[in-house]
Amino acid sequence: MSKISRPPEPEDFGTNQSGNPYFGDIVQARLSRRAILTGGLSTVALALFGCGGSDDPAPATTAPATPAPATPALPANTLNFESVRRTPMMAGDDLVVPPGYRWTAVTKQGDPIGSRLGAPAFRTSAARRFDTTGAEAELQFGDNHDGMAYFPLPYGSKSSDRGLLAINHEAARANVISGFRFTGVNATTDPATLDPAGETAMNPDVVRKQKAYHGVSVAEVYRDAAGQWQVQRDSAYARKVHADTWIAIGGPARGHAALRTGGDPAGEQVRGTLGNCGSGATPWGTYLTCEEDCHKNYFATRELPADDPRFQDPKWARYNIVGGYVRDYTWHFVDKRFDLAAEPNETNRFGWVVEIDPYDPTWQPVKRTALGRFAHENVAHLVNADKRVAFYMGDDQGFDYIYKFVTAKAMDPDNRTANRGLLDDGTLYVAKFGEDGSGEWLPLVHGQNGLTAENGFADQASVLIWARLAADKVGATQMDRPEWLASDASSGWVYATLSNNTSRGSATAPGNTTASPRAAQPRNAMNPRDKNLHGHIIRMRDAGGNVAGTRFSWEMVVLAGTGTADTPDSANRGTIKGDAFSSPDSVMFDGWQRLWIGTDAGDALKSPDWTGAGTDWSGLGNDMLLAMDTRSGEVKRFLIAPDGAEVCGTQMTADGRTLFVNIQHPGTEQPRDTPIAAMTWPDKVPVADGGIVRSATVAITRIDGGVIGI
Ligand code: FEO
Ligand code: CA
Ligand code: CA
Repeated sequence: MSKISRPPEPEDFGTNQSGNPYFGDIVQARLSRRAILTGGLSTVALALFGCGGSDDPAPATTAPATPAPATPALPANTLNFESVRRTPMMAGDDLVVPPGYRWTAVTKQGDPIGSRLGAPAFRTSAARRFDTTGAEAELQFGDNHDGMAYFPLPYGSKSSDRGLLAINHEAARANVISGFRFTGVNATTDPATLDPAGETAMNPDVVRKQKAYHGVSVAEVYRDAAGQWQVQRDSAYARKVHADTWIAIGGPARGHAALRTGGDPAGEQVRGTLGNCGSGATPWGTYLTCEEDCHKNYFATRELPADDPRFQDPKWARYNIVGGYVRDYTWHFVDKRFDLAAEPNETNRFGWVVEIDPYDPTWQPVKRTALGRFAHENVAHLVNADKRVAFYMGDDQGFDYIYKFVTAKAMDPDNRTANRGLLDDGTLYVAKFGEDGSGEWLPLVHGQNGLTAENGFADQASVLIWARLAADKVGATQMDRPEWLASDASSGWVYATLSNNTSRGSATAPGNTTASPRAAQPRNAMNPRDKNLHGHIIRMRDAGGNVAGTRFSWEMVVLAGTGTADTPDSANRGTIKGDAFSSPDSVMFDGWQRLWIGTDAGDALKSPDWTGAGTDWSGLGNDMLLAMDTRSGEVKRFLIAPDGAEVCGTQMTADGRTLFVNIQHPGTEQPRDTPIAAMTWPDKVPVADGGIVRSATVAITRIDGGVIGI
């Protein structure tokens, strides 16, 4: 979800008051301003770190997490497509891919996931809304497709023609779904007056429908005789995990007092998953959906005044639980577990990584508390030589951290069900970056590094439930909004996007009322920007190929930014070797040494008149997908998303012939805004005939059937 130019909210500016070293401070000593302004990324990186890029040898003992495709030698040109170029980069009510490629929308919001579930066919109302009941919506693809993983069928195969898509639905656009939302975002407004569609705020089915379009869809997909991807509607795998689905709690926090509520006195079961942003997969074939913005958007109350001291308590403030009673969603009027005053512990039951087995619809999903609670973006993993597994994770908030979880036990590659408890037992670490390119994973273990009862951490569950506070305490390094990470199993590099951080160096940034001591950090030579408008990408590698270890090295990969001629403020220029982009968000590393970069510059691109003319966004137009050849650093633009959309969840089949991409919230930033009235992507059914704009997964293939980009 874009967080740049919509109405400012606390997460945009950070809640981190710890004063821990800021990443920009550290890299400043490593890269001169001159080097950044004159050199390409790879030039800088190679000059600093040598051709291999690191002091550490490649981890020959690291087992590939995902089988590499059968490509004995990579071709010289793996970006063999015509770069998408427009002025500005806008697609309108369309999606643009290079010549010789085609796309089809496979999973569209409101379509039935599977016929066995009894979902009705997609239909819209005369008011251009999703015309379903809440119960029906629970059987349909949700809104805001974000993270995604492709699981070949059968399990263990490398099938590139049939598989399961697990798809996150990060949010639901209330306006599009039901015509209802609080338009005023005004805590003094009587909700009974905010009812543009005649539906009331207290209508339980409105709330149920909004909940239903959240969560995770699992759908079976296949490539038909014509090479087109289709949903297997009668699949036995089809299912939906939504905001009311019962989910188990696993790991050290299971049963903890802070997780007990009136609806779950034992603290062992949660209804629903929320804010399902990025994702990951385990090497044993389960899906990991990450709960990101699941606190401030959903939990509210009329019963507590905004100055109630509970909102100043770091256990709420650090997780953006800020009070008021009109948030993006108003479920607390209907469902008391979202009312902060009625169920204050319910907030602690969100912000986790949730494991779902797409191959077994009968297995109950589990919130894996051992991986910590924060604004989880996604998960990337590497398998150690001893078969323990490391999971790398970002906390998407300005000035927050990068984490790693290492399983205590080895995985069993031959018995997938034996691995179901692996994520409940292990060590959570947080990253501390060194100025010299070194890094250390600091354990978040009760009793160590000040994580003691005297400091507010009564037990390991407390460390995990308030992982941000624990990471503050041990001295982790503050980063510029960590979004996705992607791992290269062949080398051990883990790429991390740091999407942007407009609060950097700007104590007076709009809406910045937190007076964070970090917000006043001056611009530095590494990031010559008063505010990090465009973000950057780094990569990290654990020392000696031991992904269970505590030492790593890191490198800068690229500073994002617009082209030189388009950038009025030279401080915002990037080091991209190739096509310009801003705000890297989702990343995926494929079997051809390419890093696929999805952007989320969001509504900032609208200013002014969508083109960004005269601003540092000039020419960028819409969000996009690009590919970087990580051998050379060259970047080429592969896709431009429809107006208003964000590009997420990129996946590639093992044969390299299909790229799945999620197009999230076409037509508008969500969930506040009304979408562009004329847009009807992807169906392009005329408005007069009920056309409506829908989030969707698209499958992109070469018209001649070849490998993408080769
Ligand atoms: Fe859901 Fe950080 O993006
Ligand atoms: Ca984002
Ligand atoms: Ca994101």
